[in-house]
Amino acid sequence: MDLRALWGYEGKNCVVVGAASGMGKAATELLLELGANVYAADFNEVAPPVKQAFRVDMSDKDQIDQLLTQLPDRIDKVFTCHGIAMFPGNAVKVMLVNFISHRYFIEALLPRISEKGAVCMIASDGGYGWQHFWGFTAPLLATKTFEEAHEWAKANEEEIEKNMSYCVAKRAQVSYMKANAWAPEFIGKYIRINTISPGATQTGLTADFNKSAGQGDEAAGDAGIRGMYLTGWNGWYAMPEDMGYPMVFINSDMAGYISGQDLNISYGIDASRDVAALNAGLQSG
Ligand SMILES: NC(=O)c1ccc[n+]([C@@H]2O[C@H](COP(=O)([O-])OP(=O)(O)OC[C@H]3O[C@@H](n4cnc5c(N)ncnc54)[C@H](O)[C@@H]3O)[C@@H](O)[C@H]2O)c1
Repeated sequence: MDLRALWGYEGKNCVVVGAASGMGKAATELLLELGANVYAADFNEVAPPVKQAFRVDMSDKDQIDQLLTQLPDRIDKVFTCHGIAMFPGNAVKVMLVNFISHRYFIEALLPRISEKGAVCMIASDGGYGWQHFWGFTAPLLATKTFEEAHEWAKANEEEIEKNMSYCVAKRAQVSYMKANAWAPEFIGKYIRINTISPGATQTGLTADFNKSAGQGDEAAGDAGIRGMYLTGWNGWYAMPEDMGYPMVFINSDMAGYISGQDLNISYGIDASRDVAALNAGLQSG
């Protein structure tokens, strides 16, 4: 059996956004190893030897449009990995980077994504429980354009901030993926769409997440995140490859029948929460 052929990336045009660091970089390195033509985009410089690299700020629609003009006419697999942490006052920016730009970019690429292509976004365990926030998310999903979504974010800034902008955006990613797996634009061409939802991972974002969780106090934030994700199972931080590699799998030919799924990669914290919620339901009758 030819393992490289099984992945199905040889000669395929793959776009990775957020390829300069962390999970996106790990995915890029594996894709190169598997023979893909990688077109990489990031705010920062991309080091791996990709086919072409582009510097782009994904919060800026004009820059995304410029990037779109430079990408090939045929795209096979899309990986949107970029994301930022939330801080007081940056709720709209978080919505732009962590959700609105993902949706806009993916939808703009759809006409050139090949039949049986695949799309995977990095969401987050922070989006866990997205179903319970559907009422808040649905009007955002109902917006049609980048500008409309931006307006919605500005109009709802206070509520977004109250509900933790990072989580609002991550829930929106998962909700969007669920809502579109069977949308004609995707399933009509057998284009799969999935998300991965990482738990605590050591990446370029770790310091920012700690500052964010500790409200400026990085050490307190670090302790809080460890308490939430690692203490309960005496566990360890994931590494970028723990996320980037499953993402490459999910967009590969081996996962050719998997669509509409959010793969939570947090060593099972979501499973423990699911069961705790079911048990709480039993107890309350
Ligand atoms: N690290 C974690 O614990 C964790 C947990 C859950 C989810 N995530 C998500 O994982 C994804 C990858 O992040 P990471 O942890 O590998 O962090 P990272 O900082 O190492 O990588 C993120 C990349 O996105 C790029 N980026 C950020 N804003 C951008 C913008 N406006 N335009 C273009 N590129 C931009 C950064 O330059 C960086 O290269 C993010 O979506 C993040 O929200 C991370």
